[in-house]
Amino acid sequence: MAKPVRKILVTNALPYANGPIHLGHMLGYIQADIWVRYQRLIGNECHFVCADDAHGTPIMLKARELGISPEQLIDEMSKAHQADFSDFGVSFDNYHSTHSEENRVLANLIYTRLRDNGYITTRVIEQLYDPERGMFLPDRFVKGTCPECKAVDQYGDNCDSCGATYSPIDLIDPRSAVSGAVPEVRESEHYFFDLPAFGDMLKEWTRSGSLQPEMANKLNEWFDAGLQQWDISRDAPYFGFEIPDAPGKYFYVWLDAPIGYMSSFQNYAERVGLNFDEFWQEDSGAEVYHFIGKDIIYFHSLFWPATLKGAQFRQPTSVWAHGFITVNGTKMSKSRGTFIMARTYLEHLNPEYLRYYFAAKLSNRIDDLDLNLEDFTQRVNSDLVGKVVNIASRCAGFITKQFDGQLSANIAEPELLAEFQQAQTVISQAYEAREFSKAMREIMRLADRANEYIAIKEPWKLAKQEGQAQAVQDVCSMGLHLFRLLMIYLKPVTPELTAHAEQFLNDSFSWASIEQVLTGHRINKFKALLQRVPTESVDAMIEASKESLQETAPTTVAEKPTTAKEPIEPIANEIEFGDFAKIDMRVALIVNAEHVEGADKLIKLTLDIGEEKTKQVFAGIKAAYQPESLIGQHTVMVANLKPRKMRFGLSEGMVLAAGPGGSDLYILNPHEGAQPGMQVK
Ligand code: MSP
Ligand code: ZN
Repeated sequence: MAKPVRKILVTNALPYANGPIHLGHMLGYIQADIWVRYQRLIGNECHFVCADDAHGTPIMLKARELGISPEQLIDEMSKAHQADFSDFGVSFDNYHSTHSEENRVLANLIYTRLRDNGYITTRVIEQLYDPERGMFLPDRFVKGTCPECKAVDQYGDNCDSCGATYSPIDLIDPRSAVSGAVPEVRESEHYFFDLPAFGDMLKEWTRSGSLQPEMANKLNEWFDAGLQQWDISRDAPYFGFEIPDAPGKYFYVWLDAPIGYMSSFQNYAERVGLNFDEFWQEDSGAEVYHFIGKDIIYFHSLFWPATLKGAQFRQPTSVWAHGFITVNGTKMSKSRGTFIMARTYLEHLNPEYLRYYFAAKLSNRIDDLDLNLEDFTQRVNSDLVGKVVNIASRCAGFITKQFDGQLSANIAEPELLAEFQQAQTVISQAYEAREFSKAMREIMRLADRANEYIAIKEPWKLAKQEGQAQAVQDVCSMGLHLFRLLMIYLKPVTPELTAHAEQFLNDSFSWASIEQVLTGHRINKFKALLQRVPTESVDAMIEASKESLQETAPTTVAEKPTTAKEPIEPIANEIEFGDFAKIDMRVALIVNAEHVEGADKLIKLTLDIGEEKTKQVFAGIKAAYQPESLIGQHTVMVANLKPRKMRFGLSEGMVLAAGPGGSDLYILNPHEGAQPGMQVK
């Protein structure tokens, strides 16, 4: 009996409309796309929608900075994002915006239902206010000294140096990162969503078995810590939707962002004649999956299902999180040229290389994934070109030249063919379970088998022997049957390459094609299907990524605590000469540098400053440096800073570094000749 067709809706997190797409973003879109293409290939009804996440303070400020309206900014960004996705083969059925009429109507409906069901309360809160700009400041737009460890220049929500989290009101010496002004504490009425009322429902959802185990664990930790009321309003000026019954108050971007999943689907449903309710009503039999990165689990696994529940809509079937991309073993870095924009990649390399590489490394877990560019080149060349495409290039010529493109009427090795066909079960299960690396391993194992077969049969030798024509045709046809099966299996990952193979084999593939064999079939002339990865293009891409740093390439500033930092204007803060003279700066030799167990941002440095005893310093530079690379380098240390007890041990000073922070940080290197202990003047 044929399996019933599943109705599935898939989304990937909506990219912020204030910056271009980079390769880190692409991981999720490619992962989701592979899954979607697989579902369509096996015949399920699978819809894939996305949108730009267009609201919030960073977008408002970015537009101001560029001297354009937010509408103009999000319009341009949306075009650029869509071009990037489409060129990477991401097969969205619809791409919309959270700043759309559909989204406004749905956000209002959801809010009104939440309010009428008693889940909205208001409360006056205190918040930092920028008197120069006339606006309340989101946490990420306040900087100051950490109230715990006294590290300067920390964000308003957490400290990079000691990891403490706090309210921006507790920052010492706070400054607005927008204007540099000293912010005032002001009161304002805010709207809150009653998340704790959904504790039981969320626990049940967590136990439903459809969440990743790591995510379920994370949720349990949050349940243990206790759920909090969620602040869903922001004061004007704000780029977003005004709350219907609260003039001057706007929905916080994270309230209407996930509603963008629904409104994009609605926009699409109306366009193509699908039934919106069938997918979103409470007792919907359709499946809904959200692919997201690990940094936004909280929003998708707590707030989102709870708001849906409170507004009488269905909950997602599952939320699937993936890890973060690192490049060559460290966080993407602008200075190293590894902060690679999607467009820069596309200008140099074939998108299917990256799709395959991601697939070859992705599992259904939340682990980070390293894009090691050497491994990338080697892997793509050896697997896709060396193993898969090679089968076709070894066999095709004989069939075209000697048999006028006609495949043999015989199947030379029925058992081998059956082995390839039976692999569909394992491959299918792996795709379904988002164990793409497992699927790729199986496909490459088969490719090895096919190459072995050809190597043993040596059709090129047979072709020179008298009376072996039939054998040549049989062997080469067999090789092409096997190649065809591999290309069917790879179709979700390399749709372009597979399309070329379909053209060459004069066929079109669905999952059911696995059971068919092209005996006696006529094929087209073989053209090179895929070029090896040109190493010079990889190098050129890195170079171009270093350049684009200066030009444009704004990174995304998000309304959440965990994203990369944006360079912030220096804040003028005059000191007396006497204050400066108190600082004892010394040339230091880094004699040892190591990771600190349990600290995300710190490296433990052992410094020789020419005294008998070395000094130990914990420096928040882990995102920028591998510890080993620091050993033996000279830098500058503030040697007379009062030692500070940190969670990980005593820190006896500070090293000087320049840059906005995160991976863009450079420890200062004195000129050659400077010796440990020399005073810096
Ligand atoms: N706008 C929010 C999502 C709202 S969904 C209702 C957002 N946008 S984002 O542009 O910052 O990120 C978009 C997606 O890319 C998220 O899933 C995020 O986790 C992912 N990634 C961003 N940087 C990434 C890496 N370096 N590596 C892997 N995924 C990354 O968050
Ligand atoms: Zn601190």
